[in-house]
Amino acid sequence: MIVITGASDGVGSELAKIYQDSGEKVVNISRRESKYADVNILQDLREGANIKEAAVTVCDIKDPIKAVVNCVGVFSDEQLGGITEDEIKRLMSTNVKAPILLISELLDRIKQDQSDILNVVSIVGTVPGGHAPVYSTSKWAERGFTLGLQELLKDTPSRVISFCPAGIKTGIFDKVGANVQVDDWMDPKAIALFIKQILDLPKNIEVSEVVIRRKAVK
Ligand SMILES: NC(=O)c1ccc[n+]([C@@H]2O[C@H](COP(=O)([O-])OP(=O)(O)OC[C@H]3O[C@@H](n4cnc5c(N)ncnc54)[C@H](OP(=O)(O)O)[C@@H]3O)[C@@H](O)[C@H]2O)c1
Repeated sequence: MIVITGASDGVGSELAKIYQDSGEKVVNISRRESKYADVNILQDLREGANIKEAAVTVCDIKDPIKAVVNCVGVFSDEQLGGITEDEIKRLMSTNVKAPILLISELLDRIKQDQSDILNVVSIVGTVPGGHAPVYSTSKWAERGFTLGLQELLKDTPSRVISFCPAGIKTGIFDKVGANVQVDDWMDPKAIALFIKQILDLPKNIEVSEVVIRRKAVK
């Protein structure tokens, strides 16, 4: 089975659909249901206790975990001079704490099942992201965790992938009222397919990090 955080929407939802269509069991963890998940674990992943509860529910499912894909994430366009403490807490708890704690809680099972881990970070976790300082900082942190995990699991069969795309056409910006035009941005279906292709590679190939840029097409 594949465990996806944030499969109710956007990239995670497209990934859940691709996996479900391929016959794989999909477990989603998010606040709303994913229509493409076989099991929906409805939890707000900002809270540590909820993350632990979600991990226990995942561990109760006996199918081996092929991969854990963290798509959970929120955006912030608060700018320097107007950054609020609440926004820092919202971004750090969702984009950083949730993937760290979930992987930590699932670690024994991940080792047992030789599961892969793919964290959907962002290109702004690889370059300075001054236009979205809180979001970018959270993504640098998520990427730092992912690369550290890669080091920790390097002598195990589990592959750890830091997946860093540029702009994708999803609703993540609208959800915070950010004025971002995404019409010609990358298709989340194409990004989801690429994630599956990376995970489908032979187990002795680890795509440690992938940075995806967006190209203008006339
Ligand atoms: N769109 C882009 O341009 C872009 C570019 C690079 C990287 N990314 C990253 O890609 C990932 C997916 O983004 P997306 O564009 O697909 O966003 P999206 O469509 O808004 O989906 C975000 C997902 O995260 C879940 N989520 C958010 N807060 C949560 C919480 N507190 N508890 C549990 N689940 C929560 C949402 O589920 P619920 O609302 O149901 O809880 C939803 O399923 C994110 O990590 C994002 O930072 C996006």
